[in-house]
Amino acid sequence: MKQKAVFIKTFGCQMNEHDSEKIHRILGDHNYKLTENIDNADLVLLNTCSIREKAEHKVYSSLGRLRRLKDKNPKLIIGVGGCVAQQEGERLLHRVPCLDIVFGTHNIHKLPEFIHDVEQTGSRILETSLYDSVPSLGVCPNPREKEIKSYVTIMQGCDNYCSYCIVPYVRGREISRPSREILEEVRRLSEKGVKEVTLLGQNVNSYGKGIAEDMTFPRLLHSINEIDGIERIRFTTSHPKDLSEELISCFGQLDKLCEHIHLPVQSGSNSVLKAMNRRYAAEEYIAKVERLRKACPKISITSDIIVGFPGETEKDFEDTLELMGVVKFDSLFSFKYSDRVETKASTLPQKVDDEVKSKRLTALQTYQKLFTLAKNRELEGKEEEILVEGTSKTNPARLTGRTRSNKVVNFEGSSDLTGCIVSVRIKRAFLNSLEGETNTTYCG
Ligand code: 5AD
Ligand code: SF4
Repeated sequence: MKQKAVFIKTFGCQMNEHDSEKIHRILGDHNYKLTENIDNADLVLLNTCSIREKAEHKVYSSLGRLRRLKDKNPKLIIGVGGCVAQQEGERLLHRVPCLDIVFGTHNIHKLPEFIHDVEQTGSRILETSLYDSVPSLGVCPNPREKEIKSYVTIMQGCDNYCSYCIVPYVRGREISRPSREILEEVRRLSEKGVKEVTLLGQNVNSYGKGIAEDMTFPRLLHSINEIDGIERIRFTTSHPKDLSEELISCFGQLDKLCEHIHLPVQSGSNSVLKAMNRRYAAEEYIAKVERLRKACPKISITSDIIVGFPGETEKDFEDTLELMGVVKFDSLFSFKYSDRVETKASTLPQKVDDEVKSKRLTALQTYQKLFTLAKNRELEGKEEEILVEGTSKTNPARLTGRTRSNKVVNFEGSSDLTGCIVSVRIKRAFLNSLEGETNTTYCG
């Protein structure tokens, strides 16, 4: 039977990127191969994100372009999955007449069935049910040829209900994956040559809640640390309120656990944190950062901040800047608050003007640049351990990789070093990357 071609466009976070890899795996088992050229596709899938307004806009403008594609090729099947599909459901089918399939975040595994139904009956499909257990949690994508790093899902969904966040509504309740499955997947990846795994979950710190076995996230990390061939372990994302002493001490104890934590603070103002339902105070966050740095002085700390949450005053914003000055993040993702349907924050009065939000965002980003550059400059003259990921996209004569602290380093070297861990001396630091040099010419 002739193979068919699927074009997958992914919006948003690492979780979505990984879900797209799972979709690829599921469809690969049903005679589909991936194409980079949308014009050659028999099937086009958009894996969407609705975490912020901007992300959602991007999805809608892509959807607008799909109609022309279907006009050219009426046999083309078009599907939309992910958070926008989950949230919009029927409205999406109604709004976009060329759409054949709308599938929610818990229904990836049913895609082959949906495609078959469309082919056989021409009917349009809508499936956005959320379940207590999600079969796609256990789908392991095939590592690509010579893949060096891989994501591994350990849990999905979120029970935290931060007042601005749509995730609990579109990804469902927290569900942890059995540790045996996770360990098997990591072992299999290691046998295929993967050196670095990033454990994924909306709130990895609460991993283990609700599963039959007696397992916690720190214990899972200890077990993964024992797996031969895996050289580096990362994880994302952590909620500060659930960052336990046991997890903090993993940073000093586990040789493969990289010295980096993404720990979203969201705001430095206690009244805003309360209205956000974050369940910690700025002082508690700062105390956890101090404990992390005590356990692991080299640790790099990155974060997310939202500006212009409803009711945020100039004083609240200054508190956020003050926290940034105390913590000195290695880098920061910052966003203007946007209303998300169903969330508590969307019903709050005292919305902040867009102009004020833009001004605060610019001020915050300008301030952060000082810390990012200073932190990067601290590495000048130092020897850093780099996992080589391949040749640089902008200059094929150079190699690119990351420090254990997750900073991008570019340096000259043979492409034979791809997949190796090499020692690189940092020559110059920039805002978004470092430049280095190495004497290593072969993998030791
Ligand atoms: N508005 C702006 N930013 C948001 N985030 C989540 N929801 C919103 C929203 N409604 C940000 C948070 C979170 C990151 C993934 O996206 O900072 O940590
Ligand atoms: Fe959203 Fe809060 Fe859950 Fe993170 S912890 S996914 S911000 S509800």
